[in-house]
Amino acid sequence: MKKTIIIASLSMIFSAQVFAQTDTAKAEKQAAVKEAKKITQAFASELKKELVTAMKSGGPINALGVCNTKAMPITKQAAIDHKALVTRVSLNNRNPENIPNAWQKLVLEDFDARAAKGEDVMKMGYSKIIEEDGKKSLRFMKALPTGETCLLCHGSKIGADVQSKINELYPDDKAVGYEKGQVRGAIVVIKDLN
Ligand code: HEC
Repeated sequence: MKKTIIIASLSMIFSAQVFAQTDTAKAEKQAAVKEAKKITQAFASELKKELVTAMKSGGPINALGVCNTKAMPITKQAAIDHKALVTRVSLNNRNPENIPNAWQKLVLEDFDARAAKGEDVMKMGYSKIIEEDGKKSLRFMKALPTGETCLLCHGSKIGADVQSKINELYPDDKAVGYEKGQVRGAIVVIKDLN
């Protein structure tokens, strides 16, 4: 009888500890995702601001040049500012630096599948805590939907002058032929947790 009580109380203590651990892990992940979302928003709005200003002052041809010279430095600066790895990736990349790695490719393929099933691309995201060499980090991705303006440089009916500028700047471009609402790519944030 006594033995049963001891075992029962021991297992209660044990499961309480397990629950406490999963609670802590959940809270840790929630906080990390919140931070990653903030980084993504700040970075995305900075890129957008640059694009909109360039479009206003000289149309898509001018904006192509601005994206070409500024998108990468803005991305690298965002990584420094937020002490995280910040990149943009696409299954059909324009800049060869934006090729996804193996896990990012799987997430992008999943985003495409979810979009094909009708899920809202605006709200689409991915997050996972991983542990490598005893170090924990958050992998976060936010899908970027193809909007109306994006079609000027990523769509299927691109102006001849815009297309020839794209060919000149990006001889290996794959980032055309998109339709409105499709997943154009994603912002990736990788943040160390300890
Ligand atoms: C004025 C032309 C132009 C417009 C409009 C435009 N882009 Fe791009 N986009 C580019 C260029 C140029 C690059 C390559 C930038 C670089 O060298 O890093 C690019 C790169 C990207 C990338 C990085 C992946 C890759 O293919 O290299 C994403 C993601 C992206 N654009 C999404 C969008 C979205 C979403 C919109 C609409 C909100 C948009 N773009 C509108 C010209 C444009």
